[in-house]
Amino acid sequence: MSRLKRVLVVLTAVAVALVAAVGGGFFWLYTDAEVSTVGTSFSREMAVPPLAEPTVERDGTKVFDLTMQAGHKEFRRGQQTPTWGFNGDYLGPTLRAERGDKVEVRIRNTLGETSTVHWHGMHLPAAMDGGPHQTVAPGGTWAPRWTVDQPAASLWYHPHPHGTTEEHVRRGLAGMFLLDDERSAKLPLPKRYGVDDLPVIVQDVRFDGSKFDHGHKLMAGSGFLGDRTMVNGTLDPYKEVGDERVRLRLLNASTARVYQFGFADDRRFSLVASDGGLLEKAAATDRIRLSPGERAEIVVTMRPGERAVLRSHPENLGDFWQTRFNGGDDAFDVLELRAAKTLRPSPELPAELGEPELPDAGESVRTRFFGLQRSGINGRPMSMDRIDETVTRGTTETWVLRNDDGMPHNFHVHDVQFRVLEVDGRQPPPHLRGAKDTVFVPGNRSVKIALRFTGPADPDTPYMYHCHLLYHEDEGMMGQFVVVEKGQRAGDVRVPHSHAGH
Ligand code: C2O
Ligand code: CU
Ligand code: CU
Repeated sequence: MSRLKRVLVVLTAVAVALVAAVGGGFFWLYTDAEVSTVGTSFSREMAVPPLAEPTVERDGTKVFDLTMQAGHKEFRRGQQTPTWGFNGDYLGPTLRAERGDKVEVRIRNTLGETSTVHWHGMHLPAAMDGGPHQTVAPGGTWAPRWTVDQPAASLWYHPHPHGTTEEHVRRGLAGMFLLDDERSAKLPLPKRYGVDDLPVIVQDVRFDGSKFDHGHKLMAGSGFLGDRTMVNGTLDPYKEVGDERVRLRLLNASTARVYQFGFADDRRFSLVASDGGLLEKAAATDRIRLSPGERAEIVVTMRPGERAVLRSHPENLGDFWQTRFNGGDDAFDVLELRAAKTLRPSPELPAELGEPELPDAGESVRTRFFGLQRSGINGRPMSMDRIDETVTRGTTETWVLRNDDGMPHNFHVHDVQFRVLEVDGRQPPPHLRGAKDTVFVPGNRSVKIALRFTGPADPDTPYMYHCHLLYHEDEGMMGQFVVVEKGQRAGDVRVPHSHAGH
């Protein structure tokens, strides 16, 4: 062989080996990316977060106490996992109030670092919102108070410290905040908490020995993805039910995972509420997609003695690549409902449910555009001392949200419940026709929403809008807006002092 030939042979061999290595590596990443817990055996009774008992002050204010604390929880036999929780080791109690109630929540932070507590979906003054500006120092307290003034809904609460929200939520700091109103009290919907009306807080998790694995998977740009799910902090959960109809208040409290909920047997169920409360009419469906932060209330009909498995099915999250590496091909058996041999009959679902108080697009006074990219919204990463948008109290606006980088993103706005006007130029599907505070924005698509800002005005204290994939939020996919009186300008935002030392 000539020298040239030998060189060529060696080069070819090297090239083939390289291609094989890269191809093999990719194949490994590709196969490793998919997880499934379909067929799991449901071995633990689902925990139901306790209802918090408020103390009632003389003026009727309901006062709740929440202590942020570190602890341990035995998710799996013999394995003590370090956790955080509110008033306990993991997650927090369910707070409950009625429209018109004055509420106060006394927060005590016994963690070793600064945190905040945000009331997701609640309409309230910016200073009570619990965003990154209302910090609670280690050992400190904070006692926001407000008057509940919005329709019945399943809201939730979780920390919101800038840059560390993902970690604080994933360690276990989250809970539900249920609102009732006169109308919801009278509706013949399942409403016995923990019996036929079940909070279903879904989170994905991965363990590293006895500890949580908090690492991100290679290639998963959306953030942390677990390899199994839990409901209310229970792995492989089942729940015995004794009623013909069961209402599930689904909350996606995962930090990055998008679920496509349905049942293993593809049975149909009734969607009765979205983020901000009851729909006008129930919508029959067999799937409901929830991205992080979103809620849906569904009512499922049970047959005596049967078992029904709530499953998260694979779904398209954009293109092939984004779908595969951000968990779109994954499937989870989330919760098994075990019906008793004889079931208490439940009333038929009412034909009319809620009266969503949604803004009217015809009243919109201006349109704003939000380009969503992991590197920042409208090209700017979040800055605590910059007000991005100033809106006038009492006005309605149209916001156009566009996913510019193809990665899974959603969009959450504090203080308001908005109306989805269009998804990619089309009428929204039934599950997006109710009140929403968080909406999924598929890759390279756009969503148009109408929002109404009713105040109170506070030019110095911003509310947030952000991607609720918490890793993205922490990275800076967040912006700040203030609500001002007509003609007023945004004030100076003072950045709180963090005593966390990070
Ligand atoms: Cu659920 Cu700004 O958060
Ligand atoms: Cu929020
Ligand atoms: Cu995002």
